[in-house]
Amino acid sequence: MLESLRSVVSLKPIERDRTTRRLSKAANIDDYRAMAKRRLPAGVFDYIDGGAEDESALSRNVSRFGDRTLIPRVLRDVSNIETSTSILGASASMPLIIAPTGFPRIAHPDGELATARSAARHDIPFSLSTMGTRSIEEVADVCDGRKWFQVYVWRDRELTKDMLARCKENGFEALYITVDTAVLGRRERDVRRGMALPPKLGLDTFIEGAMRPGWTMEFLRNDPIVFSNVAVSTKRLGDNTEDGSSAVSLAEYINSQFDPRLSWDDVEWIRSQWDGPVILKGIQSVADAKIAVEHGLDAVALSNHGGRQLDSSPAIIDLVAPVADAVGGQIEIYCDGGVRRGSDVVKAVALGADACMIGRPHLYALGAAGEAGVDHMLDFFQAGIEQTMALTGVNSIADIDRDLITE
Ligand code: GLV
Repeated sequence: MLESLRSVVSLKPIERDRTTRRLSKAANIDDYRAMAKRRLPAGVFDYIDGGAEDESALSRNVSRFGDRTLIPRVLRDVSNIETSTSILGASASMPLIIAPTGFPRIAHPDGELATARSAARHDIPFSLSTMGTRSIEEVADVCDGRKWFQVYVWRDRELTKDMLARCKENGFEALYITVDTAVLGRRERDVRRGMALPPKLGLDTFIEGAMRPGWTMEFLRNDPIVFSNVAVSTKRLGDNTEDGSSAVSLAEYINSQFDPRLSWDDVEWIRSQWDGPVILKGIQSVADAKIAVEHGLDAVALSNHGGRQLDSSPAIIDLVAPVADAVGGQIEIYCDGGVRRGSDVVKAVALGADACMIGRPHLYALGAAGEAGVDHMLDFFQAGIEQTMALTGVNSIADIDRDLITE
């Protein structure tokens, strides 16, 4: 009896590495989110997780992906699925891009360096934000993959110019201009928490910190979190007063530094300063996508900033087909906001997007388990795209079209 039991039951070896053990239980992005929530102080988690006002744009972004259904085709030999595609004229292993996000090091001390290395290993573009916590130079040092930089237009144009020069010197390939942040959206979780960036461990955060000892120890042990890109450029321009470390409310900072007069003339000005591809990020209408084509932009990123700016903005997946019908083939189309699964990527591609971008998913994964978390999350997307293709009967990204999705 014991012998026959032994022959069918074998004990699973115990995984010794804690991170691998924890990640083996993560089945989707919500699981990384839950893990990050357990590790991060509440104010930090809410800054990443939250959106503007009632957070209706944030939830609509996600739910509208869920409302779309795919139309599976069967009996099509899906034994050789190929997810690779071309993005801005170069190959990528799948139609996915790491979106630029502010302050990744609040999720994990390795921040952008971890995500950039993981993106390079997975052969997809990594994007660094002006509001990043690792500099252009630091990212270039660790990442030989594709690197894109996101600029805001600063009141001080010299600062923007210097960042572009640094991108060029450090092998960055493309530039985003983010155009949805003339002023900062009202993030009410941050208002309630009095969130300052970079975060400071003051008296008010002391109790929070004590409840999240792992994060707090890492925060204290590692080099300070600063606005690294701003710090390097202000120093290069001879301003020694700004080292990027003073704690500010994000709204205060952005509203004082970003230029609300930003217009299509400034887009032209940036294009005159940069000879590589330029992407406009934050396009939310067919009308603006058409103007982007007239200005000769290389791509539009349909985005409502993850629901963090105008709360009454359209769900991003709903914009893809109308924009593709108006300008597809003349300009590349990316989209972000609510992308949580490989099937979401397939849906966006079916409606006419060239690639999706992911913001919160990589910050949750970073907060959950650092670089191993980002690797796990990108594997999850890769597997999800492949599985959706197999179950809908397509073998290549080029074969994914409108016939595959309900309108
Ligand atoms: C920065 O871009 C933010 O959305 O907080």
